[in-house]
Amino acid sequence: MVSTIHWTEGHTSRSARWHSESGVPLPRRTVVADDRTTAKDAYRQACEGTALLWQGDYHNARQLLQAMRRRIPRTPSTPTVSPSGSFHLHRRDSGHRARVLGKLLVLLDDDYTLALHRAPDVRRACLEAYGPPKEPREPTAVSLRELLGVIGAHQWRSKGIDVPALGTRIHPHYGVFAPTRGEYVDLVSQTPLPPAPRRHPAATTAFDLGTGTGVLAAVLAHRGIGRVVATDISPRALACARDNIHRLALTERIDVSGPTLFPEGRADLVVCNPPWLPARPVGPLEQGVYDPDSTMLHTFLTGLPTHVRPGGEGWLVLSDLAEHLGLRTRRQLLDAIRSAHLRVTDRIDTKPRHPRSQDTTDPLHMARSAETVSLWRLTPAP
Ligand SMILES: C[S@@+](CC[C@H](N)C(=O)[O-])C[C@H]1O[C@@H](n2cnc3c(N)ncnc32)[C@H](O)[C@@H]1O
Repeated sequence: MVSTIHWTEGHTSRSARWHSESGVPLPRRTVVADDRTTAKDAYRQACEGTALLWQGDYHNARQLLQAMRRRIPRTPSTPTVSPSGSFHLHRRDSGHRARVLGKLLVLLDDDYTLALHRAPDVRRACLEAYGPPKEPREPTAVSLRELLGVIGAHQWRSKGIDVPALGTRIHPHYGVFAPTRGEYVDLVSQTPLPPAPRRHPAATTAFDLGTGTGVLAAVLAHRGIGRVVATDISPRALACARDNIHRLALTERIDVSGPTLFPEGRADLVVCNPPWLPARPVGPLEQGVYDPDSTMLHTFLTGLPTHVRPGGEGWLVLSDLAEHLGLRTRRQLLDAIRSAHLRVTDRIDTKPRHPRSQDTTDPLHMARSAETVSLWRLTPAP
């Protein structure tokens, strides 16, 4: 369904298509804002649900967004709140911040030009994130906050992320889980292969379920595995994985297939790095981070016995952050593994190295500082 926003400029009524990647509904009311608009006024209107369509200088709009952000009160963390309570407060705060800051809008021309004073050329970034302009061609209003994410994603996609396990870079697309945390990639690159693949890697098949950028599929191919099938539910991830596999000249050895979780058939090694937190994603952009009711985790576990070859293994990559946040217990995980008729043959643990794990101002610092990332080696129970 196409949504249209309406506003008035002088005595002229104007309208544009409304677009939000995270599915934010059409603002109830839209007014024009420019370089004379104060942060106090913008923040008040945004809190009341009024969108501000920016028509001033681009850099001033970015500064206004920062000034509005500084006005948003943070819920102070109190030791009396349980870890799961802190997590829910943190998500509530993030949702509130997104709602308020998402009210500052800009208008993209029908070819994605941002016609503001001192604005950068955002056409390529928008084309990558939004695809070709929709017909009928008309201007589109988006939140400046979303557009800044689109621009950042374009820069990341162009530059890529260094993956030492591959000795090269992986190029994440907008909205695709990026392998910025190297520790879990190293687990998959360093854990000894099961006996059959170890003896004849080139004659071995592996699945990489929920491939994202394709990074783990590439690591498996890098380790000599002859054929890898990589799947995902997200069309963006599938396109991104195909792009990376092509860049790495691995199209002969890696098939990208989906949207699905399990491909047809069985493999000697089935790797899955599901989203680590059981919570509802807000929009498709959070699908790599939150797994509602641990659905992907459970589907992987229950499907593994019928998708792994005799003598093969499943590798589950999972952090225990959810346990430290009180969102899942270790017992629940072990029960799910047992109920799926699987046996744990080994578990390799590592500690996160990313800067956020050291950030004492992070509201989830207690949980993050205790986090361990594990690779669980699973085989069908005899
Ligand atoms: C944590 S990310 C991992 C991405 C990549 N394997 C990596 O390690 O960087 C989880 C991935 O699973 C995908 N996903 C989520 N739910 C899924 C499902 N039900 N079936 C298939 N893929 C799913 C997401 O789109 C995301 O790309």
